[in-house]
Amino acid sequence: QHGAQVLVASNRGPVSYARGDDGSLTAKRGGGGLVSGLSAIGPDAGAVWVCAALGDGDREAVRRSEGGHLPADDTGGQRVRMLDIAPDVFAAAYNGIANSVLWFVHHLLYETPLEPVFDAGFREQWRAYEAYNAAFADALAAEAAEGAAVLVQDYHLTLVPGMLRERRPDLRIGHFSHTPWAPPDYYRLLPDDVAAEVLRGVLGADRAAFLTRRWADAFIACCRDVLGASAAGDGGSVTFEGHTTRIGVHGLGADADFLRKRSHEADVEERMAALREQIGGRGRRTIVRVDRTELSKNIVRGLLAYRLLLERRPEWRGEVVHVAFAYPSRQDLAVYRDYTERVQAVADEINAEFGREGWQPVALHVKDDFARSLAAYRLADVALVNPIRDGMNLVAKEVPVVSDEGCALVLSREAGAYEELGQDAITVNPYDVEDTARALHEALALPRDERAERTKRLAAAATALPPAQWFMAQLRALEG
Ligand code: G6P
Repeated sequence: QHGAQVLVASNRGPVSYARGDDGSLTAKRGGGGLVSGLSAIGPDAGAVWVCAALGDGDREAVRRSEGGHLPADDTGGQRVRMLDIAPDVFAAAYNGIANSVLWFVHHLLYETPLEPVFDAGFREQWRAYEAYNAAFADALAAEAAEGAAVLVQDYHLTLVPGMLRERRPDLRIGHFSHTPWAPPDYYRLLPDDVAAEVLRGVLGADRAAFLTRRWADAFIACCRDVLGASAAGDGGSVTFEGHTTRIGVHGLGADADFLRKRSHEADVEERMAALREQIGGRGRRTIVRVDRTELSKNIVRGLLAYRLLLERRPEWRGEVVHVAFAYPSRQDLAVYRDYTERVQAVADEINAEFGREGWQPVALHVKDDFARSLAAYRLADVALVNPIRDGMNLVAKEVPVVSDEGCALVLSREAGAYEELGQDAITVNPYDVEDTARALHEALALPRDERAERTKRLAAAATALPPAQWFMAQLRALEG
C-alpha cells in the first residue's frame, strides 16, 4: 500500500479489445516487456493506469465506458483509463514517431546511407506526437489528486513529464525507459530541435529511470552533448536550467511465482506434448527462441547462424530442432511486414535444404500463444536470445526460471539482461553469425550438470527484482 495516489501512463495498456463481426468486444492482454512488468502492480495498489486506445476495438470500448474508465471485469480489477486520441494523430505519433523514429534511434536500426530522411512529412508527424503527448498530460493533470505520484513509461511519452510539470507543479513525476538509450553520436541523427525537445521532456521528471546503468549513462551523455546540461559525477542526477532530475536504474526481473505456477497448468502440459510430437526423434535437442517479430530481435541472423551450424557440424543434422516463435508485431509498418516475410523465407529455405523424412530442422510458429511459449521454455535445451540491442529482454530471464532440466542460454551482449546474466550465459556479438553458430554448438555440447548449475544461477539473477518490487522501488525512489 502507498500513501499518495499513484498514476501510471503508457501507450499500451494492460488490455486491448478485438471487435467481433457481431459487434462483441473481447479483451486480450498485450505483449512486450512493459505490459509484463507493469501488470504486476495489481488492483490492490489502487493505481490508475492511463493508456491509449490502439485500434477500433479499443475505441469502441472507450465509447461504451464511463469516461474511458474500463470495466473491472476486463482488466482483472486494475483501474484503467483509456484515451481515445484521434486515429490520425495516434497513427502519426505511434507508427510515425514512436516506432519508426525513436525506436529506430534507440535500437540503432537505421540503414544510414538512405535513412532516416527528416522532411516535411516528418514535421507533421512530430506535431502529432506533441499533440498525443499533450493529450496524456491533460488526462493525467485532470485525473491526479494533489501531490500524486505519476509514473510515465517509455519512448512514446517522452514529452509528458515536461508538459505535466507545467500543468501540475504539485505532482511527483517519474519517467521510465523500457528501451535502450542511444549513444550521443547516434542520437544526434535526430533534427537538433527534436533531439533537444525529447531530452527536455524527460528532464521535466523528478526522476528518470532505466533498465541498466548502460542506458542511463547514454541518456546522461546525450543531455550533456545536446543540451549542455550538467551531470553529477556519480551519474546520479542531471541539472538543466535550474531543475535537477535524479537518474535511477531498476533492472526489471522475472516473476518466478507467477511463471512457475502458470507453466504447470494443464494447457501448458498439453502444448508440451504437442511440441514433443512435432520435434520428434528420441533424445533430439531443442533450440528455442521466443520474440515479437521485431527488427531489433535479430531473428534472421539467428536463423542464419542455425543454418551455419547445420552446415559446419553435420553431427547435429537430425539431432536438433530449432523451435522459433515469432509473434506478429507492429504490422502497420511495411518494414515489419517485410521482415516477417523474410523470417518465414529463411526458415523455409533451411527446411528445404536440410529437412528430410522424419526431421524438420526449423519449427516456426507465428501465432501468439503464451501457454505454448511456456511449454517451449520448459523443454528447451538451448535458448537463443540474440537481439541487436534490447532494453532488457525478459525471455532471457523467464527461460531459466521455468526450465525443467536446465537450459543453456545464448545471449547477445547488447541485451540489457547481459549485465545480470552475462556470467552464466554463452555470449555473442549479435551481428556475427559465425560467432553465433559457434555459441549454439557450445551450448548444445554443454554437459547436463553444468547446464543445470548455470540455469540455477541464471534463475537467481533473473528474479532478483521481480515486477512488483521493481514497481515499488521506482515509487519509493520517486518519493525519497
Ligand atoms: C517494447 C516497448 C513497449 C511496447 C512493447 C510492445 O517492450 O518498450 O513500450 O509496448 O515493446 O510493442 P507495441 O508497439 O506492440 O506496444
